Amino acid sequence: MEKAVQIKDGIDWVGAIDWNVREFHGYTTSRGTTYNAYLVRGEKTALVDTVKAGFFPEMLSRIESIMNPADIDYLIVNHAEMDHSGAIPLFMERVPNVQLIGTDNCIKALERHYRQDLPIQKVRTGDELSLGNKTLQFLEAYMLHWPDSMFTYIKEDCILMPNDGFGQHYASYHRFDDENPLETVMGEAAKYFGNILMPLAPLIPPLLKKVKKMRIPIEMIAPSHGIIWRSYPEKIIQAYTDWSKGIADDRILIIYDTMWQSTETMAKAISQGISAAGVENKLIHVRKNHRSDIMKEILSSKILVIGSPTINEGIFPTVAELLIYLKGLRPLKKKGVAFGSYGWGGEAIPAINDAMKAMGFEVIDPGLSVMYVPGEEDLENCVALGEKIAASL
Ligand code: FEO
Repeated sequence: MEKAVQIKDGIDWVGAIDWNVREFHGYTTSRGTTYNAYLVRGEKTALVDTVKAGFFPEMLSRIESIMNPADIDYLIVNHAEMDHSGAIPLFMERVPNVQLIGTDNCIKALERHYRQDLPIQKVRTGDELSLGNKTLQFLEAYMLHWPDSMFTYIKEDCILMPNDGFGQHYASYHRFDDENPLETVMGEAAKYFGNILMPLAPLIPPLLKKVKKMRIPIEMIAPSHGIIWRSYPEKIIQAYTDWSKGIADDRILIIYDTMWQSTETMAKAISQGISAAGVENKLIHVRKNHRSDIMKEILSSKILVIGSPTINEGIFPTVAELLIYLKGLRPLKKKGVAFGSYGWGGEAIPAINDAMKAMGFEVIDPGLSVMYVPGEEDLENCVALGEKIAASL
């Protein structure tokens, strides 16, 4: 039997640990993930979110370790995506009289997902639900990251349950931030933000302002993935504030693909120039790194130096794919430079420049292209370009 884990008096984690998931709709989850559900027990009882359908038995077992599931009065649906709502139909079979609670958009999304008439009550920002000695307050979080998204706040305990917000794909037996390696958890939180929330970043500061205005002190953040922030909630809130404003480190990424190592040789020479200026930089070969990992690196870097050989009068497909992915994620406040080798046309460089301009990058140099294999003078030009890029930080 699985056990519930108490996170505060009357509040227990009853979610599931997915140790072996390695791919999450196109995002690599090398450390697995968790689907967090929470049981809040006052005079009445509410379950906040469920788990992915296949993990229903694990959630049920954790609930049964502390109470009879049939006695649950409310199911708060913070988000309709199936990693959190997938177990709802199974849960409804076991607890048919439970009252569901969600936003108007959540009602519509659940109808489209499960095609059944669910007993769901609509709530709006500021609405409250009393469980007796515990009060749940709701905050609509439109487009963070779906139209239905909602945060639930437990007033007496100052716990925010923001579903995907502040989450990380990270599997662990330990439930809290101070029980896990913080740097690793923060890295997974950054990857999550970079791949899931970044396109919606402009909505985050107004939401955080709204939270402040509602005067709700936050002592603990219990998201729907990964660990619970009990010792470092301010750290993750500050990180979200910075990421949502496009604040990055003085760090340069050189992202490239290569056919016959000419573009790679250029990448290394550019890196030499940047390193000589004492600036942190990193080379990333796009075929040897997954795009979701590259996004984490992009989030924390001010300048992207993007290299591609020219092929078929255009950008090398892997670099083009990354640029398409990046465009959808709408990075803020980036600077960029293009480089690469070519045989006869050299069309990749202007195409990368166009892509960067379309994303609002400040293009700090027209870019550098080299015919076939770089010679000594070409490499000196690459080093000089690296120095120029470093100086533009
Ligand atoms: Fe974790 Fe948007 O689902």
